Amino acid sequence: MFTAADFIPNTYTSSIENGNFEWSAPSNIALVKYWGKKDNQIPANPSVSFTLNNCKTITKLGFAKKKNQDSFSFDLLFEGKPKEDFKPKIQKFLERVHIYLPFLKEYHFTIDTQNTFPHSSGIASSASGMAALAMNFMSLEKVLNPEMSDAYFYQKASFLARLGSGSACRSVKGNVVVWGNQANIGGSSDLFGVEFPYAVHENFNNYQDTILLVDKGEKQVSSTVGHDLMHDHPYAERRFAQAHNNLDQLIAIFENGNLNEFIKVVESEALTLHAMMMTSMPYFILMKPNTLQIINAIWKFRNETQIPVCFTLDAGANVHVLYPENVTDKVLQFIQDELVVFCQNGQYICDKIGAGAIAL
Ligand code: DP6
Repeated sequence: MFTAADFIPNTYTSSIENGNFEWSAPSNIALVKYWGKKDNQIPANPSVSFTLNNCKTITKLGFAKKKNQDSFSFDLLFEGKPKEDFKPKIQKFLERVHIYLPFLKEYHFTIDTQNTFPHSSGIASSASGMAALAMNFMSLEKVLNPEMSDAYFYQKASFLARLGSGSACRSVKGNVVVWGNQANIGGSSDLFGVEFPYAVHENFNNYQDTILLVDKGEKQVSSTVGHDLMHDHPYAERRFAQAHNNLDQLIAIFENGNLNEFIKVVESEALTLHAMMMTSMPYFILMKPNTLQIINAIWKFRNETQIPVCFTLDAGANVHVLYPENVTDKVLQFIQDELVVFCQNGQYICDKIGAGAIAL
């Protein structure tokens, strides 16, 4: 079993004055949801996600040794322009991970970041953004410690990403990623995400995710506040137990490829996530009328055609439409004909399961 102390490095054997790295990291969509956490970004229940392919953050990290090593020093560029409002989040991240990356105060960093998905699309960029940043810092640490194994490199990258944003730890590796201790999943950990270690049926190869942009506005309640409201939540314990149970069910479903059972777990998880929000104190609703219109239209279409398309939601109004690759044409036609009308400015993004972070 790993502990956080395993990620505190011993002395480094090498050094570097300056240079840069560049990584892309994708977003991910949870099937069993992380909602509720303990101290130090430890999840209240395990979660599992599909890593996406097209929705990515690309981050270049420049670094140069500096004289004054008393504090963190960095510039932040978003799409080539300085972005002051992202800085506090990065500052907090650096403070949290400093004990694991003791070189952080020795360099001035230039963090130059961009997303492949439209700015303010309502798609959270914290998962892909924190994962891309963590990969870059690990590339630097690997220069300082050239002996580092690949396994450690990726585990620690995920560990660091989690300290930036919980779901980010699931964006380092590809396809199906589990985060959180689960008795029946060997190697699963609260500290980092791991690739789902068992068989995944070919029905899930290239699984599609079309993201319908229902509402691109700022959320009224952030995920961080939402997680907090799971403390003293009347249904918390039952919910956390249910997440374990749903993940157990998915182990069998991934193996046997039963899409009807997959749909039941995934849609129930999405609605339960939002039910937790509606039953928090204070309570809140992140779905919009068009979210419900889309859900109803998907249910009707699935009933009429028997095409195994389903939805999931993250902490917002947008709808992720999930379906196997072999029904792509029919589902895209359905989206065009019946769902685009519920999207803000008719916008949606076609994505699918993908491979995880990539060095550029
Ligand atoms: C609903 O990872 O954004 O998307 O750890 O506070 O940064 P923080 O929260 P975050 O929460 C994601 C919640 C979710 C479900 C999920 O991705 O599992």
